[in-house]
Parts: sequence; structure tokens; C-alpha cells
Amino acid sequence: MKFVVAIDGTAASGKGTIGKKIAEHFGFHYLDTGILYRVVAYHLQNSSDGSKISKQKIQASLKLLSNKNFNVTNLRSKKITLEASLISKNNIVRRSLLLYQRDFALRVGGAVLDGRDIGTVVCPDADVKVFIDAEIHVRAKRRYDQLCKYNKDLNFKNILYDLIKRDDLDKNREFSPMVPAKDAILLDTSNMTVEEVLKKIIAIISEKLKK
Ligand code: DC
Repeated sequence: MKFVVAIDGTAASGKGTIGKKIAEHFGFHYLDTGILYRVVAYHLQNSSDGSKISKQKIQASLKLLSNKNFNVTNLRSKKITLEASLISKNNIVRRSLLLYQRDFALRVGGAVLDGRDIGTVVCPDADVKVFIDAEIHVRAKRRYDQLCKYNKDLNFKNILYDLIKRDDLDKNREFSPMVPAKDAILLDTSNMTVEEVLKKIIAIISEKLKK
């Protein structure tokens, strides 16, 4: 069975948590497409020869993801987070990652992909499209609470500023900007728990699977 769920949304909107849980619930494959942009940003900053972006280098960075010893937490640092957003403006990067994402979406057994342009560009024919957002202060507070577990010296205002900056970059880039697909279901989760969001999306997918 081929069945694709596209979950797009703003930074720290919770799309990753939701995407993973939806995939677990239905036994679908799951891809966090943001990781692809993060790994390219990480690899290019560490490339010894001045990091001119090329398809070969991008493909080489994707190989890092299949290396079991590669530490994915490095990809969540503040620096890489911003660089991933900056690098995602580049159309060579976007085009190189497109095939990888489309191949993933075709996996037998169903797939959930989360990102910014899944419903618009990567999988415009996805069976279910959801765009998740929440009020900026709510997202910043969620991110703050999440990071507080590891770092006690956090500054709420910096987190808020970083999210605003990243949304702005992602929304206003020339290629594949972050925008809800015309046929996406828009979910504002500002006043919703994760369980409530899940329940809603599970109901939408279950209905679609019956058809
Ligand atoms: O989902 P994330 O925060 O891990 O994504 C990091 C960056 O990668 C995001 O700021 C923009 C880029 N990105 C993208 O342009 N398209 C995607 N489908 C996923 C992420």
C-alpha cells in the first residue's frame, strides 16, 4: 500500500512529535525532512575545501545519516538550526534532496513526511496534508520548556527571536517557501494538547484510509 501523509508547519510547531506519533500509530515509515537540511548544513560547514555547494557534496552529507555512529544531537545546535534554514534557500540543495524525499514517500506500507514544502512541492499528491502552526509565544514557550531540561541558562527572548527569524527566512525564500498547500488542513495548536492534535489527525487519516 502507498499512502502519504504530509505534515508541514512552522518552526517548533510540534510537527515532528506529531509526525512520529502518527507514523507509530499507523505503522507508517517516518521521515523528518528537516534533518536532511540540517545534515547538509553540518557537512558543508565542516568540509575542508571551502564548501562550494555541489550535488556530490550534498549526497555525501546524506551518507552521514546512515552512519550509526553519527551523533544526530549535533544537528540540533543553535548554529546548525540557523544554517539549515539559510542553506535551504539554495535551489541546488533543495533539488538534490527532492528525490531522496520522493523515494521515501513511495515506500510500501505508507509514509509520513514532515517539513515545510511536503504538501506543496515534495508530495503534491499526498493523501492527507496537514499544516500545523501555533501562536509564536506558545511555540517559543514549548521550545523553552523542552530545552530547559538540558540547559538551565536559556533566555526566552533569544528563543523567541530565533523562531521569528527562522519563520521569516523559511516563508520568504524564493524556492519552495513554507506555505500551506491549498488542500491542506490547517491546524492552530496554540490551545491544543498533543493528544488532541493526534486524535484529530488520526481521525482524518482513518477516514481517508476507508475510501
Ligand atoms: O524542521 P526543522 O526545524 O528541523 O528544519 C530545519 C530547517 O530546514 C528549516 O528552518 C528550513 C529547512 N527545511 C526546509 O526548507 N524544507 C523542509 N521540508 C524541511 C526543512
